[in-house]
Amino acid sequence: MCGIIGYIGTRQATPILINGLRKLEYRGYDSAGVSVLDTGAGASRVVRCRGKLAALEDKLTREPAAGTVGMGHTRWATHGRPSEENSHPHKSGPISVIHNGIIENHLTLRAELVAAGAKFSSETDTEIFAHLVEHALIAGAPDLTTAVRRSIAKVRGSFAFVVMSDKEPNTIVAAKNSSPLVVGLGDGENYVASDVTAILNETRKVIFLEEGEMVTVTRTGVAITDFEGNPRTHEPKTITWSAVQAEKGGFKHYMLKEIHEQPRAVADTLVGRVNLEADDVSLDGIELDVSKIKRIIFIACGTSYHASMVGEFLVESMARIPTEVDLASEFRYRDPILGPGDLVVAVSQSGETLDTMEAIREAKRKGAQVFAISNVVESSIPRLADYAFYTHAGPEIGVASTKAFTTQLVAISLFAIHLGRRTGTLSKERARELLAELVALPNKMRDIVESGAQIQAIARRYGAANGFLFLGRGSQYPIALEGALKLKEISYIHAEGYAAGEMKHGPIALIDEHLPVVVLVPRGPSYEKTVSNLAEVRARQGKVIAIASRGDNEIGGHSDDVIVVPDTALELQPILTVLPLQMLSYYVADFKGTDIDQPRNLAKSVTVE
Ligand code: AGP
Repeated sequence: MCGIIGYIGTRQATPILINGLRKLEYRGYDSAGVSVLDTGAGASRVVRCRGKLAALEDKLTREPAAGTVGMGHTRWATHGRPSEENSHPHKSGPISVIHNGIIENHLTLRAELVAAGAKFSSETDTEIFAHLVEHALIAGAPDLTTAVRRSIAKVRGSFAFVVMSDKEPNTIVAAKNSSPLVVGLGDGENYVASDVTAILNETRKVIFLEEGEMVTVTRTGVAITDFEGNPRTHEPKTITWSAVQAEKGGFKHYMLKEIHEQPRAVADTLVGRVNLEADDVSLDGIELDVSKIKRIIFIACGTSYHASMVGEFLVESMARIPTEVDLASEFRYRDPILGPGDLVVAVSQSGETLDTMEAIREAKRKGAQVFAISNVVESSIPRLADYAFYTHAGPEIGVASTKAFTTQLVAISLFAIHLGRRTGTLSKERARELLAELVALPNKMRDIVESGAQIQAIARRYGAANGFLFLGRGSQYPIALEGALKLKEISYIHAEGYAAGEMKHGPIALIDEHLPVVVLVPRGPSYEKTVSNLAEVRARQGKVIAIASRGDNEIGGHSDDVIVVPDTALELQPILTVLPLQMLSYYVADFKGTDIDQPRNLAKSVTVE
């Protein structure tokens, strides 16, 4: 997610912008830039560069930007690789724009603007908005606010826009739809930002814009309206958070913040890829020739490996292409039998995991094609692959992966639907049902992540246990493994994920009154069998925590605790059932007081063997 700050006042803007952007560095970014309206020159100067803020500051010493109105941006690439041309602000004529979010209909708008003679200098969706606002002014919009309003009416997707015009040096206009935007109130000066962290040193008096609102900011005041121009009033709030708390959006840890970001991250990963009219999926222009794909092999590590295990179910059920999954660290040493008919799918949040990179090199040496799924644009793994498809989870700061995992499951679901529609094994009707369920996921995820109190109580009840067992069948088995990994990683309690059907082949010896057993038992073909596993646990005094479907009135009789999740398509259930496990692990670790965001011995990206 990009970082945004805007300032209008009587002081030099540049230092305020740079200091604000520095407070947003924790979010992760690959380029940065500022636009400062030099009232002397009567025009804004845009200074941008790839890399870190230090590089931008260095460039500003050579290309100083003087003026008391300006805006700054740190970019996390989603559309268009990290580069100076793609960094923000984008300018068209007198208009400068910075943007956080994804313009879903960017290709259509770009085509219309090009047909109208617009010249583009970047690959981004953001630049489109600068052209739209310029064209609105040329077409007669009386002022910047009206031009922005008319431009917003043409845009679909998530956005936080901040816009300046050389022709209106006393105004900044901003607009919010799904991406956060806050207005900071000063004395003779005002601010806009993507979150309060950027402006907390300047003011604690803020207004959080709501969905569908825009604001015209001057030195002496702010005017808020909806997108139709109807005035909106908000009482300013005073932020009491410390700077550190503000970085976490008021959450205690980044991991909890990122657990709560998952509905938005999933929605962003779907944007521009779900074609409800054609009951199909676009993989950002990638067209795989399924007639040439004889086998698919997922390779990954850790949490990404668990996502890949779910992927095996998804691809085989939807596309009926033989599919395997392998740990990257095993794959690269087992001299795999591979050839041109194999498509290796490498899944990696960081895009920098060495085991996965070396496995890709082995696959390419043996003639296979490689399809990368990653969360970091232009990271090493996508660059090494033949195809790159991105999750849009935004930077994941917590070492324990949460939003990256659920967006990987969404990306793999899109991949499987795309394949299934082309192998002809996924009907139009079934694809339509799955796509509708995918689009409905963010709200269902929000229901779960906002029910933390019950899970917190369960965590407190079992937090002193010396070990946990997680059980699941079918595509819930990888979720059992993921739940165990989450708990191990951040609470340091030993935990084991097991195929529920395997319990009687050994782990049942572990069961006693001291062992909490988390059982994934949503509605589906494995329900009855899993309930019998659950009964076997209870018969040996094991404590059962069931993750079940909302409305299941039977499961309570077999469990000590039940956490329910909304119904969804069988194929998509793992995206919901993993959420309570993430939260259970979080609250157990919080109860134990471990370093949740930076657990001992762990690194966010394992770039060593
Ligand atoms: C996830 O919680 C872990 N931090 C770890 O297992 C991680 O998934 C693994 O190292 C793979 O990382 P990648 O997705 O960046 O390749």
